[in-house]
Amino acid sequence: MGSNLFSDNMVNIAILRQRAFNYRWAVVAPDVIPLTAADPDFPIADIIKEKMTSYIKEGYFSYGPPEGFLSFREACAERAIHHNSIECNSEVIFPTPGVASGMSLIAKTFLSKGDEAIIFDPVDFLFRLSIENAGATPVCCPIDIKTGEIDFDFMESLITPKTKMIWLCNPHNPLGKVFTSDELIKIGKLALKYQLWIVSDEIWSNIIYNPAKHISIASLDSEIANKTLTLFGFSKDFCLAGLSVGYIISPTREAHNNLVQHSGCLATTYGVSVLAQVAAEAALRDGWNWHAAFIEHLYKMRNYAVSRFNKMPQISCNCPHATYVLFINIDSLNMTSQAVYDYLLKAKVAVVPCTPQFFGEGAKGHIRISYATSHQILQEALDRIEKALNHI
Ligand SMILES: Cc1ncc(COP(=O)(O)O)c(C=O)c1O
Repeated sequence: MGSNLFSDNMVNIAILRQRAFNYRWAVVAPDVIPLTAADPDFPIADIIKEKMTSYIKEGYFSYGPPEGFLSFREACAERAIHHNSIECNSEVIFPTPGVASGMSLIAKTFLSKGDEAIIFDPVDFLFRLSIENAGATPVCCPIDIKTGEIDFDFMESLITPKTKMIWLCNPHNPLGKVFTSDELIKIGKLALKYQLWIVSDEIWSNIIYNPAKHISIASLDSEIANKTLTLFGFSKDFCLAGLSVGYIISPTREAHNNLVQHSGCLATTYGVSVLAQVAAEAALRDGWNWHAAFIEHLYKMRNYAVSRFNKMPQISCNCPHATYVLFINIDSLNMTSQAVYDYLLKAKVAVVPCTPQFFGEGAKGHIRISYATSHQILQEALDRIEKALNHI
């Protein structure tokens, strides 16, 4: 196991052009490199392929249990207990068709029209979308884009009788910030003081670079844990975005049952495909050696990309402690992020413009790139960006 898994020849662009959607290879012109959505360019771990293949060969695809396979839910609980120090068991694990879908389900289950939920600004658009789709209102708490600091007095001032939840993105997309225990305790105390739910999206929690450490808010204190719904996924860790699978850990059986009831799984209108559960369970039980090699590769790509960007004229970025996205400041270019996107697209690289639509008002003056690709592709993309910026 090692860097061969992530060498240049492991990226099959011909296949990606057929299969990688969501702003990526399949939807850009053939001569464009997409450093867009955070979805790696690599094939999955062999062990996951093997487990899926043997399940397929047996040939039975009957309905699975409405709340997901017990063995998968047990694997989720074991990971949460042993790795994240979250006290739980399989009875409060609910597999969802991806974390995005889990976020929507939580919002639909626990929020009503007129309710408010606090989110960070900037943050991934899924937070705003999930809350708005439930008829509730997201209320933005700024997070300092340079230091990652949060003004907790300001956060408290946002709380009204309508506030029902605080939504956390830990680690944070797009800042790559890892929350400290001190910050998490402050958030937890606010939630307890005002009897709010905490929704902790921890999809990025395993994409983390030494010496940073991820702390699950539900691991800190039993009272805080009792108010926390935690989400984990497989798209970022194991390149399984197209299988649509993740899971929610509820603090109580009552909260879990509430999610189950609202989801529709008891009437078969909701659920994770059995094959995706087989893949995800294989990842949780046997995928961590592959994952360690993936992190080793990402660590090199992060250092390479950060150092290259910080040498380019008029742009700069922080070095993220987690995730495989870079949040790049373009203020000095005096162009909107949409204009920078258009300009770089002409240079044959697609990036994510940090418009309010994607990350909120707080992300203005930035673009975001993903570096979960091979060194060769990243180098070519960065060469094109550098050359283009030299001509501004
Ligand atoms: C913070 C965050 N939450 C959720 C998702 C979506 O996860 P999934 O693919 O499991 O739906 C993403 C994907 O970019 C993300 O960055």
